Amino acid sequence: MPQSGSMRLLLAGFGNVGRTLAGILAERDAYPGLADLDAAVVGITTGSHGALADSRGIDLASALVWFREHRRFTPGRPDFATLDTAGAVAGLDYDVLVELSPLSVAGRGEPAITHVRGALERGRHVVSANKGPLAWAYRELTALAEERGCALLYEATVMDGAPVFSLARHGLRGNTIERIEGVLNSTTNVMLGEMERGASPAEAVAAAQRAGVAEADPAADIEGWDAAAKVAVLANALMGAELTPDQVERESVAAVTVTRLAAAGSRGCRIKMVCEAFRDGGTVRGRVRAREVRRDDPLALVEGTGSLIRFVTDILGTFTVAEERPDLATTAYGVIADLFAVRLSRA
Ligand SMILES: NC(=O)c1ccc[n+]([C@@H]2O[C@H](COP(=O)([O-])OP(=O)(O)OC[C@H]3O[C@@H](n4cnc5c(N)ncnc54)[C@H](OP(=O)(O)O)[C@@H]3O)[C@@H](O)[C@H]2O)c1
Repeated sequence: MPQSGSMRLLLAGFGNVGRTLAGILAERDAYPGLADLDAAVVGITTGSHGALADSRGIDLASALVWFREHRRFTPGRPDFATLDTAGAVAGLDYDVLVELSPLSVAGRGEPAITHVRGALERGRHVVSANKGPLAWAYRELTALAEERGCALLYEATVMDGAPVFSLARHGLRGNTIERIEGVLNSTTNVMLGEMERGASPAEAVAAAQRAGVAEADPAADIEGWDAAAKVAVLANALMGAELTPDQVERESVAAVTVTRLAAAGSRGCRIKMVCEAFRDGGTVRGRVRAREVRRDDPLALVEGTGSLIRFVTDILGTFTVAEERPDLATTAYGVIADLFAVRLSRA
């Protein structure tokens, strides 16, 4: 049984991030800083690879071995459950829904929005690494969370585990953020680096896939949807905007040719896919575009899977955060940071 007072987690999604998070929680003793994180996973759901549920807490180490060997959860396990995520969200007893399912552009953030809404309506906290709910339903979900006295946290949605949202909220108090810009999509950044070194666009996509950053179908990255979703989350959460990814102007990395990269190089510049949210009159606009930046601009220094975000504020001025060589543990840490914040909010 989870100890009384321990946070009971429901994981919706057991892909790269879900399994990495489970691995860290399973080996919690190896991380002295996690000694205070008293959490037990009581449910795991997937899209089509089975589910587990155990109110006493799932043995994560054995769940990971099972998943690795069988590539899915099967009835051979005593904690196997015939549950979909909607059923788990509505029926299981948990404290925090951890939303780790994929970003769905075609579904405009669904079904994750429904999962998050369902958990909040039951008075459960939500931690999401999935941008969809915050990009397409930010106002509704944050209002619902407030009404129900629940936390809705999403540190891992932008820049993996780098504490972008907590830093901006707690470290920039009193400032108005005028502009946010950054290099925030790994696939397109890896592609541009490869093309600068002479690769064709197709070879560049293949290199991003080999680096494990591009999806098997990399369209969401290439067409700028992943970046547009990040712009929407940042603008909504930190600039009071009401933007959805559809309202963010997008330029595809496919518009960047080897010739254009070389021409920028000859002017002492690089081309980067830059995410931008900025005030324009009384509104906040969002944009993802291939921008020529001088080689000494920090935006130009972002290599490979790294990322960088710059805040332009009215009092502090300009403030930049960079993340170097993130891996899946970096993203899992974003979720863990949110779990600590939920724990504090319950104290
Ligand atoms: N990878 C990163 O470094 C990173 C960084 C920041 C944010 N994120 C975000 O974190 C989320 C997870 O990323 P990932 O890399 O772990 O993705 P992934 O490897 O594609 O895994 C997605 C998981 O979600 C499951 N799933 C699909 N539909 C579901 C549903 N309706 N209910 C519950 N689970 C469902 C999938 O199960 P099936 O395989 O059975 O469909 C799979 O287990 C995504 O939203 C991603 O954008 C990822």
